Amino acid sequence: MAKIKVAVLGASGYSGEELIRLLLRHENCDISIITSRQNAGTRIGEVFPRFSDSDLIFSAPDAGEIAKKADVAFLALPHGLASEFAVPLLKKGVKVIDLSADFRIKDTAIYKKYYKDEHPSPSLLKDAVYGLPERYRDKIRNASLIACPGCYPTSIILPLAPLLENKIVSPENIVINSMSGVSGAGRKVDLPYLFPECNESMRAYAVSGHRHLPEIEQELHAAANCEVRINFIPHLIPVNRGINSTIVASPAGKFSRENIESAYRNAYSKEKFVRVLPYGRQPDTKYVTMTNFCDIGFTFDEHTGRLIINSCIDNLSKGASGQAIQCMNISFGFEETAGLL
Ligand SMILES: NC(=O)c1ccc[n+]([C@@H]2O[C@H](COP(=O)([O-])OP(=O)(O)OC[C@H]3O[C@@H](n4cnc5c(N)ncnc54)[C@H](OP(=O)(O)O)[C@@H]3O)[C@@H](O)[C@H]2O)c1
Repeated sequence: MAKIKVAVLGASGYSGEELIRLLLRHENCDISIITSRQNAGTRIGEVFPRFSDSDLIFSAPDAGEIAKKADVAFLALPHGLASEFAVPLLKKGVKVIDLSADFRIKDTAIYKKYYKDEHPSPSLLKDAVYGLPERYRDKIRNASLIACPGCYPTSIILPLAPLLENKIVSPENIVINSMSGVSGAGRKVDLPYLFPECNESMRAYAVSGHRHLPEIEQELHAAANCEVRINFIPHLIPVNRGINSTIVASPAGKFSRENIESAYRNAYSKEKFVRVLPYGRQPDTKYVTMTNFCDIGFTFDEHTGRLIINSCIDNLSKGASGQAIQCMNISFGFEETAGLL
């Protein structure tokens, strides 16, 4: 099979670095262009010594140049910028896989409420497919614009959606505490994320109205077929990568351990990247970091009559770049696990 040409925009950031790490060993791809404004003209090995064998050189992002050199472009850019590149690239027939939030939320009023700006290109929203392969594989296959889910949403939608869909847990009073490593904040200098500010400490943040909340609720609503309002409480923890989400939910009409196991079996027994642990086992971030796996465990707490679900992913892999490559594999008809196992 001929190799495809791949562009990585925002290649000097954490998810860009992870895309390059995975793409360099992907047998169906050649990286043809990598962008960074601040590092334009610099060999990648000077910025990331792990790639010192590579001849890749950063260039400033230029949609015209990218369209000449790429079949697919990954946009690993801050939110609000995607359409600046997506619009011209899509016009030239380049597939776009966006890692930012720009095309995830279907309702522009909700986008404005949480991202404090008008949506930059509402006309593209109808074409954008939410890039969660375990739920939207068929749509991803035919999409030209793929909106990869956020890291926290991936860790929450995968364990909760099958249980809401099958009326096993109630859509009401769901509480989710998520813990994320510091790379989730990106590779930039920002006081709260400096080593002495977050090492040996943990803090909750954006406890009411985190930007991932509407995306999570949009997808849980689709699964439950009714409005779902959750408490989503993210925490910053002193590790580089990894997310651990603890979800507490109340039983609904079809609640039983057998029904939970059967719902997960139906949803994930054929999935390569979702592992449901035996009843009562809790996942551990160290077994998913540097992988594209999502590990899920669940336990019924008889004391309160509530279900406790735990899930772990690597925010930079299944939560970002690994998932983006999984989407590319589906979209180009490659083995879905190519470059990821
Ligand atoms: N980090 C995660 O765990 C994670 C998980 C899921 C999704 N995401 C999403 O993925 C995207 C990238 O996140 P990240 O954490 O990798 O960010 P990052 O580490 O801050 O990197 C951002 C990249 O974008 C480039 N960039 C910044 N402003 C730009 C501009 N105006 N025009 C062109 N390029 C620009 C930067 O390089 P220059 O400044 O040199 O141009 C850099 O390469 C974000 O939308 C984020 O929300 C991140």
